[in-house]
Amino acid sequence: MDRSMIDGRTAVYGLMGDPVEHTLSPAIHNTMADLTGMNLAYLPFHVPAGCDLGVVLKGAHALGIRGMNVTVPHKKAVMPFLERISPEAGAAGAVNTLVRTETGYEGFNTDVLGLSENISEAGVSLTGKKVVLIGAGGAARAAAYLCGRDRAGKLYIANRTLENAERLRKEVQGTWPDLPVEVMPMEDLGASGERDLIAFQCTSVGLYPACDRAPVTDPAFYKRLIHAFDTIYRPEKTLFMKMAEEAGAGTAGGLGMLLWQGLKAYEIWTGIRADKDQALQIRSRLEAFLKEEG
Ligand code: ATR
Repeated sequence: MDRSMIDGRTAVYGLMGDPVEHTLSPAIHNTMADLTGMNLAYLPFHVPAGCDLGVVLKGAHALGIRGMNVTVPHKKAVMPFLERISPEAGAAGAVNTLVRTETGYEGFNTDVLGLSENISEAGVSLTGKKVVLIGAGGAARAAAYLCGRDRAGKLYIANRTLENAERLRKEVQGTWPDLPVEVMPMEDLGASGERDLIAFQCTSVGLYPACDRAPVTDPAFYKRLIHAFDTIYRPEKTLFMKMAEEAGAGTAGGLGMLLWQGLKAYEIWTGIRADKDQALQIRSRLEAFLKEEG
């Protein structure tokens, strides 16, 4: 880490969240700054849950902080304090990237843009496809937005708590009235007759250290998939992905989404889009960090 490069012109960016100790975002942005020769520094800011976010943003603005990522638990709570909110962030109901303007901060959602890039990178298009979302929280909202934007043919939402799935169904139908959406109990996923499905695993089931768990255990479900995306990146290959792979489906994990949400934020802040080589270098850096952490 060469801090002697920091000078009076260094543009300061950061991450606000609680906790922030294990974040990989500084590795993404500071490495991109090195690779693209930008005079910027990206720092973690521990902003405890329950803080007055209006005061936090006023302070950040007064200090001239150019942009921030926002993580748990502030992604929704920050929204009332922003000058403007992008269409993706509005539809996903969450903001994870702030850009400084003269008078305040503008909010974006690069989790949505990152997932979109992860899907294209896997060579998959959602247009006209039958899609299953497993989960009905923040990550599922990002995937649901892309199903509407890319005109998926049909959307199934399966979730442990049906009323949360029902709430998401209503939101999706409010934004995309032409997209047919059906809610189904998790246990019915194996019994459904649909084939050629694209699935998004959007729950925390299977997250390290509970790596031997998957939200669906019926092998019949996995045989119906053509592609399976997991939003979890620790472990890099979840049991959900392993089961999908064994059944012959294509798979992609959450590391690509993590990488691209960061690179999209970097692009919004600096106007510089990572090329293939830079994206690969940062991906290996993230893999190394994850290995170090166990
Ligand atoms: P995120 O922003 O990562 O999506 P979230 O908004 O808290 O996180 O959503 C978590 C999702 O994981 C929800 O769909 C949740 O199901 P419920 O709506 O029933 O709470 C799901 N989830 C969490 N733990 C789960 C478990 N042990 N089994 C099944 N689903 C679980």
